[in-house]
Amino acid sequence: MAAPERSTAAAKTGLIDRVGPHLPSPFEGDQEAAWIEVIRKMDEVYADLLRYETDLEEKNTALEEAQAFISSVIESVSDILIVCDRNGVVLQVNPAAVRLLGSPADALLARSLGELVDPADRAHIDALLRAPSAAETVALEIRFVTATGLSDLYAINGATRSDPAGARVGTVLTGRPIGELRRAYEALHTAHSELQRAQRQLVEQEKMASLGRLVAGVAHELNNPISFIYGNIHTLERYRERMSAYLTAIHHGADPAEVDRLRRELKIDALLADYASLIEGTLEGAMRVSDVVKNLRRLSFPKSGETLRVDVDRVVRTAARWAARAKPGHVALDFDIAPDVAVIGNEGQFHQIIVNLVDNALDAVRGQTEPRIEIAAKRHGGDVVITVADNGAGFADGLIDKIFEPFFTTKPVGEGTGLGLWISYGIAREHGGTLAASNRPGGGAVFTLTLAAA
Ligand SMILES: Nc1ncnc2c1ncn2[C@@H]1O[C@H](COP(=O)(O)OP(=O)(O)O)[C@@H](O)[C@H]1O
Ligand SMILES: [Mg+2]
Repeated sequence: MAAPERSTAAAKTGLIDRVGPHLPSPFEGDQEAAWIEVIRKMDEVYADLLRYETDLEEKNTALEEAQAFISSVIESVSDILIVCDRNGVVLQVNPAAVRLLGSPADALLARSLGELVDPADRAHIDALLRAPSAAETVALEIRFVTATGLSDLYAINGATRSDPAGARVGTVLTGRPIGELRRAYEALHTAHSELQRAQRQLVEQEKMASLGRLVAGVAHELNNPISFIYGNIHTLERYRERMSAYLTAIHHGADPAEVDRLRRELKIDALLADYASLIEGTLEGAMRVSDVVKNLRRLSFPKSGETLRVDVDRVVRTAARWAARAKPGHVALDFDIAPDVAVIGNEGQFHQIIVNLVDNALDAVRGQTEPRIEIAAKRHGGDVVITVADNGAGFADGLIDKIFEPFFTTKPVGEGTGLGLWISYGIAREHGGTLAASNRPGGGAVFTLTLAAA
């Protein structure tokens, strides 16, 4: 029989000694073999045990490392983190939450989440704890009750915590302060509203300014026929006096020689010959006044958005003349308007574009030796193309891209608002048309307005 191998387990139990060669073996035959088998098994079990222990130690080390990693992550997170069970009882908080709430972590554990938030927000917290589905994240804005009173506003995300089987076991809250962000946003919002208000005010100012130009133009336009009528009426009054003196003499039975003398002295024949043209001139003046008033009414009466057939020739001439009248100095206006062209649109707005373009052209030609503005209109397929060209300095390099921007102006403060072209561009676009600018080959600027033909 082979001697059993000495093994650690056998040595520890001292069995080997007892089966040593000096003593008579208490076992015989099969019995001894059974014992050896038992010892061998024990050795195996012991070896397994040792292996398991090493494994366990390794796993434990890994577990500790993982836990340390998770803790370090949780602690370094600047957002607050609160973990609750299904009933909203706090199970864990991170240092950020401890700092916010101002009590030690131990004092927070086992408290109810509802107690930690502003009473006004408790209903939100209850709803969060009852969040319908595990997949859903609930976003809230709440304040916490801290050691020093209510906290700033916090944006909170609440996510459901589930067990491996997917059953809901609680809620995890993460959050960060948004008070600062909210205040910044509100400041931004206020600034934006103020800007919008300022912009509206400036647009109103520009409208008032163009109304001012319109009124000045109309005043000059009316001045001419009215002074004409005024002069004629004065002459008619003098004629009436002479006529009255002449007729009174006749009615009092003056002799023919006397009547003849008076007739020559009072220039009765010339007076009679002049009557017709005086009255005709006065009527013409009155008609001019009436035309101006009619044009004005057309500008002011269309309801906003009302589109009608607009006679290009009449509106372009009136607008250009009125704009020119509103500014001092003489500028040659040259019209080349094809007969019977009309566009569909709002007459007042169409008039406003032409006034703006002519007004700019008048500024551009100021100081030129022979200031000239050429206005043309013609049909081009289904469109009417209107051009306003001047012999000013044109646009400097890179300027054309900017002139349609609101508030872009190269004019001194008080003279330019930089809104005329922006408003005109907007009107053209609202009418489905376009407004473009370019330099003329021979110098000066040209604006091209394209609108759908009526
Ligand atoms: N006919 C033109 N010739 C040269 N520059 C022009 C002409 N029309 C407009 N501009 C330029 O475009 C700018 C913007 O015009 P606009 O929007 O009408 O504002 P504003 O006339 O108040 O300056 C003007 O300041 C000027 O620099
Ligand atoms: Mg302008």
